[in-house]
Amino acid sequence: MADPSGSHNESQNAAGAAAGAYADPASAAAAVSRGRFLTGVTLGLGGLIGAAVTVPVVGFALGPSFAGEEWYWVDLGPVDAFKAGDKSYTPVHFERTPNGGNLARRVAFVRRDTDTAFTVVSNTCMHLGCPVQAGSLGFSCPCHGGQYDSEGRRIAGPPVRPLNRYQSRVEKNHLFIGRVFASKELDNGSVVMTDSWKDPGEPVTGFLSYLYPAPPR
Ligand code: FES
Repeated sequence: MADPSGSHNESQNAAGAAAGAYADPASAAAAVSRGRFLTGVTLGLGGLIGAAVTVPVVGFALGPSFAGEEWYWVDLGPVDAFKAGDKSYTPVHFERTPNGGNLARRVAFVRRDTDTAFTVVSNTCMHLGCPVQAGSLGFSCPCHGGQYDSEGRRIAGPPVRPLNRYQSRVEKNHLFIGRVFASKELDNGSVVMTDSWKDPGEPVTGFLSYLYPAPPR
């Protein structure tokens, strides 16, 4: 025999379920859900505005670090202009990019070691980038007293590493220079070009070098 009170409870449950499917807009449950919605909208808009402000700033700050360098093989003239075996350097003025104007002007110090081998040293000081000058004992920087020996190794003052060097090649009896690379001093005292480039003031060896990852060039 069916229980009359059980039948009543079932109808109450059904009514309750139906009431759950539709929340009275004036009820507490509906108020919470509106509050959450508005919170979400506010946070979403805040995030969009923050991204709109931050992304361009970060892009301007970091973009140049990831921009590749435009470089060209530059003809420095006939190799006969440099005397083989001469220990001194010849300063050569050139434009880093074709028709680059004043901003592209550079100076490289060229030493002809053998008939076909050249050492081409950058004139950019490895402290803060002032132009160094070549002398009988090596290179000196007029800005803060940085001194380098004839191989470009730092011997005094604040520079953090040897002078950069340009890659070079001889073609049709002319000397060409290409990209400039950071140099480092080996344990045996010799100076070699690394395969990367760093700004002045940034070491290429030791613990501190990890603080200055090399930008692509
Ligand atoms: S920039 Fe050359 S020593 Fe400071």
